[in-house]
Amino acid sequence: MSKLEGKVAVVTGGGSGIGRAISTLFAQEGAWVHILDLNPQGAEEVQQEIEDLGGKCSVHTCNVSDQEEVLAVVASIGRIDVLVNNAGIAHVGDVEHCSPADFDKVFQVNVKGAYNALFAVIPVMKANGGGAILNLASIAAWVGITDRFAYSMSKGAIFAMSLSVARDYMQDNIRCNSISPARVHTPFVDGFIAKNYPGKETEMFEKLSQSQPIGRMAQPAEIAKLALFLCSDDAGFITGNDYPIDGGFIKLNN
Ligand SMILES: NC(=O)c1ccc[n+]([C@@H]2O[C@H](COP(=O)([O-])OP(=O)(O)OC[C@H]3O[C@@H](n4cnc5c(N)ncnc54)[C@H](O)[C@@H]3O)[C@@H](O)[C@H]2O)c1
Repeated sequence: MSKLEGKVAVVTGGGSGIGRAISTLFAQEGAWVHILDLNPQGAEEVQQEIEDLGGKCSVHTCNVSDQEEVLAVVASIGRIDVLVNNAGIAHVGDVEHCSPADFDKVFQVNVKGAYNALFAVIPVMKANGGGAILNLASIAAWVGITDRFAYSMSKGAIFAMSLSVARDYMQDNIRCNSISPARVHTPFVDGFIAKNYPGKETEMFEKLSQSQPIGRMAQPAEIAKLALFLCSDDAGFITGNDYPIDGGFIKLNN
């Protein structure tokens, strides 16, 4: 029996990286996956990949920072059993290298985007008798990482947001957890290396890989497997928790 047979899943930022791997795996496990992404091109590629394998996927071009857009898309979907708040953006810089515009942008996407999806989806889940929510935090919520001021704060907010939702909606049969990956090899990582360390891409990639005790970055598919477990009925007793998936980064980096 597939783990998400007959379920409807919403994955924000499902057009790339971790969200792409989650969307593909959830569809393979029987879910009808709805991708909400700013970038329709990436999302449509994922849709094609899923449909080629006989799965079901719908793409909704949507900026998660815009509450009206998110509400309209969610209203068009109907029943929703699973929500993965995955859309997120990076920012590199300490306090002095974080402009008000940088700060607002990171919070608009990483924090308000997750809130907007929760605001739209929770009433639907309540009406359906429950659901499972997974939010993408990061090891940056747990340890001090150089030059990740705004990003780390946004991921700390995701952790606290998950606890709040888990507590408030337990009686509605809604579970809410977060996961905290260390570095995962996605366009997100390639993008910030290219932007922040031009000309030193290979050296930085190796440095970042070696900064994880396990000696490499995670693959998106490895993150998707943990996401699948937490969003499936196998995790029915798990709510209000964060799960690092970090190659030893938090506890073994000594
Ligand atoms: N890659 C890592 O090393 C890593 C580590 C820890 C946590 N994370 C978190 O995992 C999540 C996914 O990261 P990734 O590496 O797969 O990123 P990615 O850049 O590869 O993909 C992010 C996706 O989100 C979409 N997106 C961005 N802004 C959006 C918006 N306003 N509205 C809708 N969609 C939007 C993008 O179009 C893209 O498809 C993020 O929340 C990130 O913070 C990533």
